[in-house]
Amino acid sequence: MTETLARRRVLLVIGGGIAAYKALDLIRRLRERGASVCPVLTAGAQEFVTPLAAAALAGERAHTDLFDRAEEADIGHIKLARQADAVVVAPATANLMARMAGGHADDLATTVLLATTLPILIAPAMNVRMWAHPATRRNRATLEGDGVCFVGPNAGRMAEPESGPGRMAEPNEIADALERMLAQAGDARPGLGFLAGRAEAQPRPLAGRRVLVTSGPTHEPIDPVRYIANRSSGRQGHAIAAAAAQAGAAVTLVSGPVAIPDPAGVAVVRVETAREMLAAVEAALPADIAVFAAAVADWRPQSEAGTKKIKKDGSGPAPLPLVENPDILATVSRMNPGRPALVVGFAAETDTVLDHARAKIARKGCDLIVANDVSAEGGVMGGSDNAVHLIHRDGAEESWPRLGKDEVARRLVAHLAELLDS
Ligand code: C5P
Repeated sequence: MTETLARRRVLLVIGGGIAAYKALDLIRRLRERGASVCPVLTAGAQEFVTPLAAAALAGERAHTDLFDRAEEADIGHIKLARQADAVVVAPATANLMARMAGGHADDLATTVLLATTLPILIAPAMNVRMWAHPATRRNRATLEGDGVCFVGPNAGRMAEPESGPGRMAEPNEIADALERMLAQAGDARPGLGFLAGRAEAQPRPLAGRRVLVTSGPTHEPIDPVRYIANRSSGRQGHAIAAAAAQAGAAVTLVSGPVAIPDPAGVAVVRVETAREMLAAVEAALPADIAVFAAAVADWRPQSEAGTKKIKKDGSGPAPLPLVENPDILATVSRMNPGRPALVVGFAAETDTVLDHARAKIARKGCDLIVANDVSAEGGVMGGSDNAVHLIHRDGAEESWPRLGKDEVARRLVAHLAELLDS
């Protein structure tokens, strides 16, 4: 049992999507971590799961109606909105996000969401195209501006034969994100104000800005059990996302498979392959700043991984034809319209770091390259320090001393905020 959720009370709003069944598992996971859960089901949710099932798992009554005679004598929805430590919305459908963003209060769930001053975490789940639709992007930006925290959606297969970002984050990921949100709220007065409260403590040069960060490696499947990968830990990219959030930006982090925790206050989209990463990046735009810190695999196996493991047959070297992956940095740098004002690439090199980086800035069309030496001597891949050189599009260059990756991230974010303002 973790300390953060022990004895915490969570108001869980379950929206009407196929992922509602995972909300039942979420109730169990939250209770395993010591929280009590008060379920609220929308009418749509009740098409997928029953209030009885939610109540049985929560060990307490599930709420469904705005006008409930038993509760209303006690101004029920206001009480619900107050008597908890946090509100979690899972799954948050496109429609529920739209109603939240618009301030609707036409059922119990939306009324509670409008009446509450508690921190809110939402786990969106919807069709890929609905998530990428400009209306949903606007609603997401509005909710982020209101201080609502996001977890997911993840990329991957969904109910429809499509893949891309849209699948609800897993119950344990939601519980982890809730712990982070509550830890961040700390002893500050809970509610939407807690984020603003943090703001007073430190400068927020990226307030009102949207920042997109890619991080981690990609995995390119060869067959169901093998993949091509690299040694990226995701530490530098994740630190940049965290620093941008601390600087006040609304941050989306598109991350390949990593073993480190999600940064606080950041919407994380998990992907595996380069192609999924590109789709998630496109869905997360527009942004003011895009930082491409992921170590994207340059190649992937030519044939799609099937469902059967490839067997060796003893006939000599295995043929593994590779094809090039899309270059996400170059694609976004050349977008017109829709190019972020600042596009930043990374160059991990093992030799002649600066020469390679100078060539790369022209080839990729970005505004800034952060170059580092990942040779055995430089030894930064997977490590906790980084010695970087900044190469700007106009030719200006600067080298920073060897610093912790968190400090590199803080300085880089401050530098980007200045560039954006100038
Ligand atoms: O070409 P190279 O891999 O050295 O370039 C590194 C930079 O390009 C990094 O910023 C990386 O995130 C980005 N990149 C990308 N998509 C690829 C390959 C690299 O966004 N397919």
